[in-house]
Amino acid sequence: MTALGNVKLKPGDTIGILGGGQLGRMLAMAAARLGLKCQVFSPDPDSPAFDVVLNATCAEYADVEALELFANDVDVITYEFENVPAATAMVLAARRPVLPAQKILETTQDRLIEKNFVKRLGIDTADFADVSSVETLQSAIARIALPAVIKTRRFGYDGKGQAIVREGDDPSRIWEELGTKSAILEAFVPFEREISVIAARSADGHVECYDVTENEHRDHILKFSRVPAAISDELAGQARAVAERIAHALDYVGVLAVELFVVAGNGGPRVLVNEIAPRVHNSGHWTLDGASISQFEQHIRAIAGWPLGKPVRHGQVTMTNLIGDDILDYEQWLTVPGATVHLYGKGAPRPGRKMGHVTEVTPANSK
Ligand SMILES: Nc1ncnc2c1ncn2[C@@H]1O[C@H](COP(=O)(O)OP(=O)(O)O)[C@@H](O)[C@H]1O
Ligand SMILES: [Mg+2]
Repeated sequence: MTALGNVKLKPGDTIGILGGGQLGRMLAMAAARLGLKCQVFSPDPDSPAFDVVLNATCAEYADVEALELFANDVDVITYEFENVPAATAMVLAARRPVLPAQKILETTQDRLIEKNFVKRLGIDTADFADVSSVETLQSAIARIALPAVIKTRRFGYDGKGQAIVREGDDPSRIWEELGTKSAILEAFVPFEREISVIAARSADGHVECYDVTENEHRDHILKFSRVPAAISDELAGQARAVAERIAHALDYVGVLAVELFVVAGNGGPRVLVNEIAPRVHNSGHWTLDGASISQFEQHIRAIAGWPLGKPVRHGQVTMTNLIGDDILDYEQWLTVPGATVHLYGKGAPRPGRKMGHVTEVTPANSK
């Protein structure tokens, strides 16, 4: 058991993971390789992470008794998703260290708070405005030129809870269809490309960033990640510096992802922060096969109080997400030379559901 202060796990200790999806599953697999055990807490009996751990708690996030029993069984607690309810985090944090810290959830669960936080650091984002009614939407549209993107402040993912607002659209209809009381309107960014930085920070303030990843979305869902991103070393350095500053400002412990847009500027391309994910991230899955240390292991090391690794990339990497029916081709993928196939053990392939991914690495010295 760990004191609520500094965490220093030993092999054989147990990490509690909130959330039972593929991220929790891959975290638990990375922990196992380091001789650490995991206990997964998820309300969904079909959680793919349950399949790879011996101990699981299947209960609601509001079930205080179950949370307390779970906390008693583990040495440190982490999560695979940012929408951990504040009350859940509070119950757990009173008993065991929760990493990344609970206050980070408050910043990253809400797009408005998150964007204001980034802006206060002097880091650029798309122009944005707080929207809480049809009237405020109208004044936001007047200030931010159309097209623009309206996004719910909370609970959005894979493009859910957002819509493009175009010239001639009826604001009351858009507001009604979004069905929320709190949103932001964001200028539409005519980006050259989308990139992300996966960064890890240890409790002593050391940061390790992976090489910048270039991301291609289809229907608002990540389809391909390619590393290195086709950007200059200087811009890549700027992107990594942005992630590092964010990690320090949050006093972050663990792995975080920063999604950025690359836009044309007068003095050459520059980056705007799109969003922060306080967790391992789909655009970092390439690190499982494409780097000496994966984002999952790096996160486990950080929250265990162990030294971070210096990740070495094995070459040029492409990660392809298997989304929905893509999974039906898994046997074909198994025969592709050099491809590494990851299947998440989920049930039915619904449209938009992330079912697995494939990594292909071209070593630096091959032709
Ligand atoms: N302001 C914007 N301008 C242009 N495209 C955007 C904008 N905001 C989001 N998008 C597109 O939609 C995708 C999903 O939006 P994002 O804000 O990252 O939400 P989430 O990933 O939580 O669904 C982005 O990766 C990008 O492709
Ligand atoms: Mg996103």
